[in-house]
Amino acid sequence: MNKRSIIIDTDPGIDDALAIAIALFNEELDVKLITTVAGNVGLNKVTYNTLCLLKYFGKENIPVAMGADRPLIREYEDASSVHGKSGMEGFDFEKPTQTAIKENAVDAMRSAIMESEEPITLVPIAPLTNIALLLKTYPEVKNNIKEIVLMGGSASRGNKGVMSEYNIGVDPEAAHIVFHSGVKLTMVGLDVGLKALVLPEDSEHIKGMNKTGKMAYCLFKKYRGGSFNTGLKMYDSTAIAYLLKPELFEAVETYLDVELHGSMTHGCTLVDLKGYLGKANNATVCLDINGDEFRKWFVDAIEKCI
Ligand code: BDR
Ligand code: CA
Repeated sequence: MNKRSIIIDTDPGIDDALAIAIALFNEELDVKLITTVAGNVGLNKVTYNTLCLLKYFGKENIPVAMGADRPLIREYEDASSVHGKSGMEGFDFEKPTQTAIKENAVDAMRSAIMESEEPITLVPIAPLTNIALLLKTYPEVKNNIKEIVLMGGSASRGNKGVMSEYNIGVDPEAAHIVFHSGVKLTMVGLDVGLKALVLPEDSEHIKGMNKTGKMAYCLFKKYRGGSFNTGLKMYDSTAIAYLLKPELFEAVETYLDVELHGSMTHGCTLVDLKGYLGKANNATVCLDINGDEFRKWFVDAIEKCI
């Protein structure tokens, strides 16, 4: 089988940890590089967390490159209230031996994309700072990017602000650059993630399944993206699910933009379903997900891990 080459841009992050696990052990995906960006917690912490995960999964051969330590323009705001102080609270990881490569995330992405024989898919599951810097600094990479499938934004309301989702709301200027880059783009947003729930019975099931399930269970006990008892939101895994099983989603071709100047709505994604803005479509936006099928897929995907 021809594997699909991907780069994951991430800020682990408890839901990031699960998305990374699923991608690493899926036979259809080849994770070429993982890049880190300040998000859920600061850059050093998310990078350390990524290295911990790779050690835990026995995948220290996958390069990790550090990216931006703050948004393009705005003040950095973390999400440690959701993921804990370390960003992956709840599990004691062994100290990693691997270190991040010397190249920064933007240069490392450029090299991986330009050297790849087949076009690469970018999967950002964090603020879009690194991806925006890449597309602006090295626009030539666009020719060898298959598409960008990102977790972020919302076709309805927000979780950072009334109308802004965290990944987009933290760095809306970066999102603006990515949305207008001309690269094929799919947005799997917050409103979809709200329905991508892991229920307590799923957590109990995966707990004894394997190493990954054991880790997930401990992290889930501390995760504040939803509630352990009524359902935990697996936002970032929805981007991986879209790559592997798009039939789980209802999606539309539409015009997508982001509010930069609203005094109360900056970071809000505008999904112009009715064409009010009269602009050409520039994105595929997921509007719904089959939650029951997602849960089955998620549990099966964890079973494929070590
Ligand atoms: C997104 O924000 C982060 O807290 C999660 O890891 C996810 O990427 C959800 O809004
Ligand atoms: Ca994330």
